[in-house]
Amino acid sequence: AHPFNVNTKGHLEIGGVDTIELAEKYGTPLYVYDVEMIRNRARAFVQAFHDAGVTGKVAYASKAFSTIAMLQVAKQEGLCLDVISEGELYTALQADFPTEKIHMHGNNKNEAEIAMAVEHDIGCVVIDNFHDMELLDQELLKQNKTMDVLFRVTPGVESETHRYIMTGNEDSKFGLDLQNGQAEAALKKVLGHPRMHMKGLHCHIGSQIFETDGFRAATDILFAVLEEWKQKYQFESDIINLGGGFGIRYTEEDKPLPPGEYVKDMIQGVKENCYKYNMQFPEIWIEPGRTIVGDAGVTLYTIGAHKNIPGVREYYSVDGGMTDNIRPALYQSKYDAVIANRPEARTEKEVSIAGKCCESGDMLIWDLPVPYIEDKDILAVFSTGAYNYSMASHYNRLTKPAVVFIEDGQDHLVVKRETYQDIVKNDLSYDEIKSFT
Ligand code: LLP
Repeated sequence: AHPFNVNTKGHLEIGGVDTIELAEKYGTPLYVYDVEMIRNRARAFVQAFHDAGVTGKVAYASKAFSTIAMLQVAKQEGLCLDVISEGELYTALQADFPTEKIHMHGNNKNEAEIAMAVEHDIGCVVIDNFHDMELLDQELLKQNKTMDVLFRVTPGVESETHRYIMTGNEDSKFGLDLQNGQAEAALKKVLGHPRMHMKGLHCHIGSQIFETDGFRAATDILFAVLEEWKQKYQFESDIINLGGGFGIRYTEEDKPLPPGEYVKDMIQGVKENCYKYNMQFPEIWIEPGRTIVGDAGVTLYTIGAHKNIPGVREYYSVDGGMTDNIRPALYQSKYDAVIANRPEARTEKEVSIAGKCCESGDMLIWDLPVPYIEDKDILAVFSTGAYNYSMASHYNRLTKPAVVFIEDGQDHLVVKRETYQDIVKNDLSYDEIKSFT
């Protein structure tokens, strides 16, 4: 139950390319992306707005997977871009991403980030708190520029997801609070402001969400606020940004809706509210990350050590682990995988897949049904395209894997495998320390 084919050799293939050949050519662990899937997802979101005849903007949340080639794909697909740091903005600039289509988020933007955003005239800054409002104001004055802003608010909607990735509830580090008047106080500061142009509200209620109720509830709350602001301040919102968070399928337990369904429901919710309050129809913006890249990505590993504890468990270790996929350790996330050499062989047992890091919690998959396994078999773990490369670490001084894009039946290296020189490149030896003093 994965979207990839098996070729005549009986090997798993991605975008028409044999994964066993990829593993030989580039080594493992290896992140492989089917670019056509990425494009199809992006197009499904864009198309859903188009079909409804509604002005919408689809901003790719680059935190999910940010590399120059990926941002170029996003650019080619006409997406906007959500960045939350100087590093993400820098990557976007390197990818030649149109700066007017970039939105900046972040709950603790610093002077340098805001200065960079203003200098490059990005499309808008999403104000998260009074601190970044103040910094933005100063910077705009300094550079004598203006900036469109949205307010990120916390609507107090709880989505049924893991606590660490739940962001829309009231007790959250993100956004201006609606309950105790923070958002309204912020509005008063920004209305009629000579440099900040208030364009609307933003919320992000969480991630890996399978239902549309949460978005609907958040929409209703945002509109209730807008109605109040319309009455009190004659403020009308040009934009309503409902964030990202649409779920994908990691294992059979996950039942996501097609991208277009989320959008259709959101549009309906906005329409009803506009009708109810007699308001102009705003642009609807969304920020999918995981849905764009998640299941387009597969990680290939080589299987090594085997440990059997009779009657208890069989462990197979792979050449990566929590360094390239922290999600099982961090969120108890579940993954599906096959032996890429023989994905269709009959499964005969359940084994657990361990990483190679020095940590008991470094387990990738518990109780995976597999056929027989031989040394150096290739394990393909599905749906590893979002928040895996982007959250990769150097624990145990492991190098970050290479990233390969598959498109039109061709493989293209888009991120080189790190080397040990890369690992020590910022380290200073005692000899160097002495030469400085
Ligand atoms: N917009 C905002 C303001 C966000 O905070 C996020 C994700 C997104 C959009 C994109 O959400 P997505 O469509 O990708 O669910 N590291 C976690 C996910 C953290 C998400 C943080 N914010 C994970 O691996 O599941």
